[in-house]
Amino acid sequence: MSELTGTRAPSAQVRPHELPASLRDAGLTNWIREPLDDAVDRRRRIIMPPAAAVMGTPASAYKGELLAEARHADTVFMMGDNPALPPMPGRPVLRDFYLLRFGPIPRMHLLQSARVARENGLDEKVIMACLLHDIAIAGLLSANHGYWGAQMVAPYVDEEVAWAIEKHEALRYFPDESVGYSYPSAYIDYFGPDYRPPEYIAREAAAARRHRWYMTSRLVTINDIYSFDPNVVVEWDEFSDIVGRHFRQPEEGLGFDGSPVAHMWRTMIWPNNFL
Ligand SMILES: [Fe+2]
Ligand SMILES: [Fe+2]
Repeated sequence: MSELTGTRAPSAQVRPHELPASLRDAGLTNWIREPLDDAVDRRRRIIMPPAAAVMGTPASAYKGELLAEARHADTVFMMGDNPALPPMPGRPVLRDFYLLRFGPIPRMHLLQSARVARENGLDEKVIMACLLHDIAIAGLLSANHGYWGAQMVAPYVDEEVAWAIEKHEALRYFPDESVGYSYPSAYIDYFGPDYRPPEYIAREAAAARRHRWYMTSRLVTINDIYSFDPNVVVEWDEFSDIVGRHFRQPEEGLGFDGSPVAHMWRTMIWPNNFL
């Protein structure tokens, strides 16, 4: 790997040691990247999954064992480019995250929602909000995704777009029959028929409903596609014009513009960094 040039020589002679059975048994070998045959750096790379991903799961028990693995000369933690992911350009734009980082299901969910908004003849701001609304689920974190997503895009979009993304998190739980929005049947499958959102979400939704931009966020929930249709393919380029008009791409690239949210974009560029 180029970042090692000038430091100690790659350990080409060191044969990978046998992984402990406990890690193999736990199915953790997928977190351990064996060197490719033609790799210059013959070291094994470990991905330590972030706390938010493993807290409360059996996988949290393996932190110590993964740390112990790094003590072997043939093993380091993943830092920088993970060869399992497509390389990102030096100055990434929004499109690069959708095409090179997001998985097919969230990517299509966002593109399909934006297409429905466009077919419904909605304002470009609403289409932009639909295209971005679950960006945090696609690339960062699912819990509180409306808030994470709004924060991530705030420096680059109209304030109303970021507001609509944030508030869709709370509004989607509350029907508004006057505009044809009912509680999503998918949520009965996802959370069970007895699920009630917490009190703070009810408060946020009630406040959002009194806000002058209520309908922008409500339209995000209305055009949100709750059933993913794998047969409908929507190309990013359908929205390049709207993105060009409503998303201010920083010249240095997302992640490198020194904005207060640049670290969020860098986390999606190098999601497996140990630190
Ligand atoms: Fe959402
Ligand atoms: Fe959604």
